Amino acid sequence: MKSLKHINKYFLKYKWRFFLGFCFVIISNLFAIFPARLTGNIIDQVRDAIKLNPTKNPDELLEILRNPLLYYFIAVIAYFMLKGIFLFLMRQTIIVMSRLIERDMKNEIFEHYEALSLSFYRRNNTGDLMNRISEDVSRVRMYIGPAIMYTLNLAALFILVVATMLNVNVKLTLYVLIPLPIMAVSIYYVSNLINKQSERVQEQQSQLSTFVQEAFSGIRVLKSFVREAQSEEDFDRQNSLYKKKSIRLATTNAIFFPLIIVLVGTSTLITIYVGGMEAIAGHITLGNIAEFIIYINMLTWPFAAVGWVTALVNRAAASQERINEFLHTKSEISTPINGIKEVNGAIEFNNVSFVYPDSGVHALTHISFIVEEGKSLAILGRTGSGKSTIVNLIARMYDVTGGTISIGGNDIRKLDLGSLRSNLGVVPQDVFLFSETIANNIAFGLIDFKDDAKSLQDTIEKAAINAAIYSNIIEFPDGFQTKIGERGITLSGGQKQRISIARAIIKKPKILVFDDCLSAVDTQTEEEILNNLKSIMMNRTTVIISHRVSSVKNADHIIFLENGMIVEEGTHQGLLEKKGIYFNLYEKQLLEEEKA
Ligand SMILES: Nc1ncnc2c1ncn2[C@@H]1O[C@H](COP(=O)(O)OP(=O)(O)O)[C@@H](O)[C@H]1O
Ligand SMILES: [Mg+2]
Repeated sequence: MKSLKHINKYFLKYKWRFFLGFCFVIISNLFAIFPARLTGNIIDQVRDAIKLNPTKNPDELLEILRNPLLYYFIAVIAYFMLKGIFLFLMRQTIIVMSRLIERDMKNEIFEHYEALSLSFYRRNNTGDLMNRISEDVSRVRMYIGPAIMYTLNLAALFILVVATMLNVNVKLTLYVLIPLPIMAVSIYYVSNLINKQSERVQEQQSQLSTFVQEAFSGIRVLKSFVREAQSEEDFDRQNSLYKKKSIRLATTNAIFFPLIIVLVGTSTLITIYVGGMEAIAGHITLGNIAEFIIYINMLTWPFAAVGWVTALVNRAAASQERINEFLHTKSEISTPINGIKEVNGAIEFNNVSFVYPDSGVHALTHISFIVEEGKSLAILGRTGSGKSTIVNLIARMYDVTGGTISIGGNDIRKLDLGSLRSNLGVVPQDVFLFSETIANNIAFGLIDFKDDAKSLQDTIEKAAINAAIYSNIIEFPDGFQTKIGERGITLSGGQKQRISIARAIIKKPKILVFDDCLSAVDTQTEEEILNNLKSIMMNRTTVIISHRVSSVKNADHIIFLENGMIVEEGTHQGLLEKKGIYFNLYEKQLLEEEKA
C-alpha cells in the first residue's frame, strides 16, 4: 500500500477536480435518498386516507389522493433525474481525473526511461518495460478512478442512509444492519477467491499462448524432428488445465450472486419482521418499513463492491511498486552540472580500461591513442576484440573504469552530454531504422532544421548520394517516400547500412564514427562510399572501424586490437613494412578478394 503514495502528488495536482467529484458524490446520493423518504410518505398518506374515510368508495378516495400522488410522481422523477445528472458529473470528474493522471504517469515514466543508460536496457527486457508503462499504469488508474469513486460513493451513501435510518428508528436500524458486515466479509472472501482464480486462468491462458507461439515459430524444427504427436499431447495437457481452472472460476462466480441475494433477502426479512413489530407497537409507520426496504437495497450493491474494490487496490499497489522500482532507478550516466558545451573534434584515450558492468567482461585494457581534429583513425580487429566498445565509450554510453577519455582536451565526463552527442555522428554496427519513410529516416539526423522543404529535400538527397544509396532509393516506386519496416519494403543489409550512414552524415558532426558499417556491402561499393565520404571527412575527425583492411588503409593512423589491447599500430605503409599481424591479414584478405 505504501507504494501508492507516489500518486499523491497527482491528487494534489488535480485537487479541485477531486474535491468537485467528492461533492458530486454526496449530492447524487442525497437525491437517491429523497425518493425513499417520499415513498414512505405516500404509503402513509394512502393508508391514512383509507383509515380516515372508511365510508368513501375507491373513486372518491382517488379524488382525495390525486394531488399527493401526482406530486409524488413528479418529485420522484425529478429526483432521479437530478441524481442521474450528478452521477454523470461524478464520473466526469473522477474518471476523467484518473485518465489525466494516467497520461501524466505515462509521460513521467517514459521521460524517465529515456534518461536511463544502456546498461539499464541490457538488464531489463523490452517486454517488462512496456508492461510497466501500459498494463501497470492502467491497473493503477483503476485505483485512481473506479476504486476511489466507489469507495467515496459507499462512504457517502452509508453515512447518509444510516443517519436517515437512525433518525426514523434506532432499534430497527440496528437489526437491519446486522447482516451487512456478514455480507461484506463473505463477499470479500468470495471476491478474493474469484480474483485469485481468474489470475490463475489468465496465467494459464498466457502459458497456452506462449506454447502455441513457440510451436508455430519453431514449426520447421518440430516437423523435421517429427514431434507433432508429442506437441499435440503437450498442448492438450495445457488446454485441459485451462479448462479445469476456468470451470473452477465459473463455479465460484455462480456462488457469488446467489450469496448476495440470500443476504439481501435476510435483511429484507428482518426489516419486515422487526419493522412489523415496531409498527404494531406504534413506533413507526408502514411507510417507514417500505422506506427501509429501499435503503437496504440501496446499500447492497455498493457493499457487494467492497471486495472488488479491495482487490483493485491491492493490484494497483503491486503495480505501482513495479513502476516505482524503475522510477527510482538512477542513470549511471548523467550530464554534469554546468557541463562544457564547446566540443571540438580531437579525441584522446589515455590508458583507458573498461569492464562491462553487468557481465564483468574486460573489454578494453590500457588503450591509448590520439586523434587530432580533422584526422582519421581506423580500428581493426576481429569480432569481440573491443572495437564497438570504443564507440560506446566515445558516445559516453558507459563511463570508463580506468584511465580517461578527453575530447577537445576536456574529460568527457565534464562535457554537457547533449552537446557531446550532438557533435557525434555514429553509424552503429547493428543498424536500426524506424518504420517510417526513407526521407524521414535520413532526416532523423537533423536536430532542428529550420529551412524550407525544398532545401530539406536537397540536403537529404545529398546525404543519400554521399552514402551511395541515392540510385537505389530512386528506383523504388515511391522514391524517398518509400516506407521501411513491417508494412513497408524490406531493405537489404547493405542498403540499411547506407541509409544509416546518410543519417549520420546529414548531421554534419565534428566527429564521425563508422562502426563496421560497410560489412554488408561489397568491396566495390565500399570503395565508392569511402571515396564519396572523403570530402565529408576532410574537416572532421573520423573513426572507422572494420575487420577489413580495405576499409582502413587510407586512414591517418591505424590501430590493431586484439582482446581489448592494441597489438600493432601505425600507418598502412608502416604496418605493411612491419610484416606483422596486419601484414598477414592484408595478404589473406587480398587473396580472398582475388578468389571472389
Ligand atoms: N553491452 C555489453 N555488455 C557486456 N558485455 C559486452 C557488451 N558489449 C560487448 N560486450 C563484450 O565485450 C567484448 C568486446 O565486444 P565488442 O566491443 O562489441 O567487440 P567488437 O566490436 O570488436 O566485435 C566482447 O567480449 C563482448 O562479449
Ligand atoms: Mg563491434
